[in-house]
Amino acid sequence: MIESVSIEQSRAVLLVRKPYISKGLVIYMNSVIFGQGYVASILNVGLQRIKDGEIGLEGIPLGNSISKTMEDIKIVGAFDLDKKKIGKNLGEVTKDYWDGNIKFDDDYIIEEGYRDNRERGNIDLEGELERLTDIYKRKDAEIFVNTITTESFEPFAEEKEFLRRIKENDFKRISPVQFYFYSVMEYDRPSVFINCIPTMIANDPAMVKMAEEREKVIFGDDGATGATPLTTDILEHLKERRRKIMSICQFNIGGNNDFLSLTEPERNISKERTKAGVVKDILGYEVPTYIKPTGYLEPLGDNKFVSMLIPYVSFNEAIDEITVNMRVNDSPALAGNIVDLIRLGEICLERGEYGAIYPINAFYMKMPGPIEKAAIAKIKAFELLEEWLFEGDNISGGERKET
Ligand SMILES: NC(=O)c1ccc[n+]([C@@H]2O[C@H](COP(=O)([O-])OP(=O)(O)OC[C@H]3O[C@@H](n4cnc5c(N)ncnc54)[C@H](O)[C@@H]3O)[C@@H](O)[C@H]2O)c1
Repeated sequence: MIESVSIEQSRAVLLVRKPYISKGLVIYMNSVIFGQGYVASILNVGLQRIKDGEIGLEGIPLGNSISKTMEDIKIVGAFDLDKKKIGKNLGEVTKDYWDGNIKFDDDYIIEEGYRDNRERGNIDLEGELERLTDIYKRKDAEIFVNTITTESFEPFAEEKEFLRRIKENDFKRISPVQFYFYSVMEYDRPSVFINCIPTMIANDPAMVKMAEEREKVIFGDDGATGATPLTTDILEHLKERRRKIMSICQFNIGGNNDFLSLTEPERNISKERTKAGVVKDILGYEVPTYIKPTGYLEPLGDNKFVSMLIPYVSFNEAIDEITVNMRVNDSPALAGNIVDLIRLGEICLERGEYGAIYPINAFYMKMPGPIEKAAIAKIKAFELLEEWLFEGDNISGGERKET
């Protein structure tokens, strides 16, 4: 019989965390979410439906090709600020995002998160730190997934400066994501911080240094879904054919809360910052671009509309152009990637690889950290990811295969 144990117990038993299942012990990937919104809720629903044998593995890039299985991912808790969610069970909250009947194996209660006090209010950071880390311990958590609303932020660059501001209780300088990250840094066990939003964590040298020193893994920043991966691959294609791109214009209109929040200019700037840098990284030259969330149209819901126009110069100065129109269900696109990221996080912990893990970030993130590394096309990044996986023994059968 397979018996489950807490992560701490299992670490004591398996001093080196290989093999993953040893002597009948299963190590669950206990994960906690910051921001129980659309993406997180679809992640919960999809994972449960996979476990119940209702759906396949479409939209999960690595599928069954790695040793970590979906069944061993356990989402054990979440934090949010919405009064309609705090204190409610997951099952109740997901009703807003999913019509089907679903019974969760872990029907946790949503906890109150860390409130943004930069505009007004007051908060004791030390007290908040204790409150959060107590919950992490109680949940036996080791993987943290950040899917809160896109926020404004300023990176720190210097670890000393970040720690000084925390010590001085300078909550006006620290964004919620930066504080969540700090709380994970202070949490007394190796763990993983998956940053799916534009706040610079994997791209802030202060944060990366802290993670390396404290045995933490960072995946970030800003999940690459929807039009971004396709755009990077089109750019790579045109570059390889030595076609000179004249401009890129990309519209994105959606009707979910994420798009609604991005109508606030400060939040949209955070998004723009992650999208535009990618183009120069891939092409090696500057191109005039308009790439940003363009608007909110409620009836579109989660199924956003994307339109792209890329004119370019070909042989003998011929001008060609590519146009793409697509509809993309936004939240499942990111949720499927998070299923991989949780499992890859566990592999990093097993291998003792800490800091910002570029071969993983390059494929899954819009702005892959660490900052000194460039963004590359996703088709190239996937090869890098496979190479990284092959370094260990975590890929089943030595090749990508579906079961
Ligand atoms: N494909 C995608 O959907 C995609 C891709 C890349 C990035 N993202 C980012 O992922 C995030 C989540 O997207 P979503 O569609 O689920 O948005 P959402 O608005 O449905 O969910 C965000 C949740 O975070 C909560 N929240 C806000 N501040 C918080 C805080 N300080 N602590 C805890 N909870 C907090 C909100 O109450 C809400 O429940 C957004 O920032 C979005 O930009 C999404």
